[in-house]
Amino acid sequence: MTIEFRDVTKQYPDGTVAVDKLNLTVEDGTITVLVGPSGCGKTTSLRMINRMVEPTGGQVLLDGKDVAEGDPALLRRGIGYVIQHAGLFPHRTVLDNIATVPLLSGWDKAKARKRAAELLETIGLPAELGKRYPAQLSGGQQQRVGVARALAADSPVLLMDEPFSAVDPIVREDLQNELLRLQSQLGKTIVFVTHDIDEAVRLGDKVAVMRVGGKLAQYGTPADVLRHPVDDFVASFVGRDRGYRGLSFLSADGVEVKEIELVEIGAPVSASDGWRLGVNADKQPRGWLPPNSTVDGALSEDDLVAGGSLWIHGTPIRGALDAALSSPASLGVVVDEDHRVLGGVVARQVLDVIEATPQAS
Ligand SMILES: Nc1ncnc2c1ncn2[C@@H]1O[C@H](COP(=O)(O)OP(=O)(O)O)[C@@H](O)[C@H]1O
Ligand SMILES: [Mg+2]
Repeated sequence: MTIEFRDVTKQYPDGTVAVDKLNLTVEDGTITVLVGPSGCGKTTSLRMINRMVEPTGGQVLLDGKDVAEGDPALLRRGIGYVIQHAGLFPHRTVLDNIATVPLLSGWDKAKARKRAAELLETIGLPAELGKRYPAQLSGGQQQRVGVARALAADSPVLLMDEPFSAVDPIVREDLQNELLRLQSQLGKTIVFVTHDIDEAVRLGDKVAVMRVGGKLAQYGTPADVLRHPVDDFVASFVGRDRGYRGLSFLSADGVEVKEIELVEIGAPVSASDGWRLGVNADKQPRGWLPPNSTVDGALSEDDLVAGGSLWIHGTPIRGALDAALSSPASLGVVVDEDHRVLGGVVARQVLDVIEATPQAS
């Protein structure tokens, strides 16, 4: 579904102009990120899509149809919405939280719970969490449940307002990866709000930079916005660590993929004083086996420590550096498109390649 803002303005009753003549088209099946400093009108813009806020000027169109024309309650039920702190109902179990919209839509309880259980799996949480209450989950788990609840609406549109801002950076990265993974399967039209430019360029197919006063400063691909900021405001907003961010688009030619020692789950392992990578029968990484580990009989997943992002060979060099820097073994894991291990990369060598490349900016 495409979402189109046409000259959309919101002036609150106290006179504040939160959004000023916004023109923006969100393309079908993409993630568009609204990013900008606090108070620039991101939340207001997002909420005008599902009519939690009514514009005072202009129109919001969903697939060409003005959202103002239908029943707002129906519209809202048909659009997934995720907010910071998940906004879960504290006195309902996780499953019942996820089942909220199907129940509102008249599904019977058994069918709604079955759907909720499927979604729990989709977002990567164990089934036994379904019976718990939100307060019994970690912050990251609660956000996942919030995402599952929004997916339960089974709508082509998902609105996300700073959904990951309240969790720590490591969990945030997991959640971002999970969202990208889900999106590669679901192909929804997602509008994602954040004040964090790193998150914006990581997730967005397109990034809309907003400035206080509710004006759109720039709209483009992450590469456009980082490399060719239209003015000083955008330049300073995206400017921090700009060289490093440019890496997202830099080719990784010259990075050496080194051999990596593998151990297979289910097979016996000998003693070793180095880190080894545990893989499944398809040669996909499952975690690291620390030096001098003792394994009883066959290697199991429980023997492995998780950690480290994977770098898909052929993708930009930033992923290689992230993988190398985040690996407990100081060796970043390189995989092919099917996530099969190809080898490892060392941070120092990746940095050497980066330093030898003329910086695009
Ligand atoms: N209900 C409201 N009444 C009056 N002013 C509001 C209301 N909601 C938001 N605002 C103001 O509108 C501007 C944009 O707010 P908001 O959309 O929440 O921005 P953001 O999500 O980018 O932080 C801010 O100046 C904010 O104070
Ligand atoms: Mg906001």
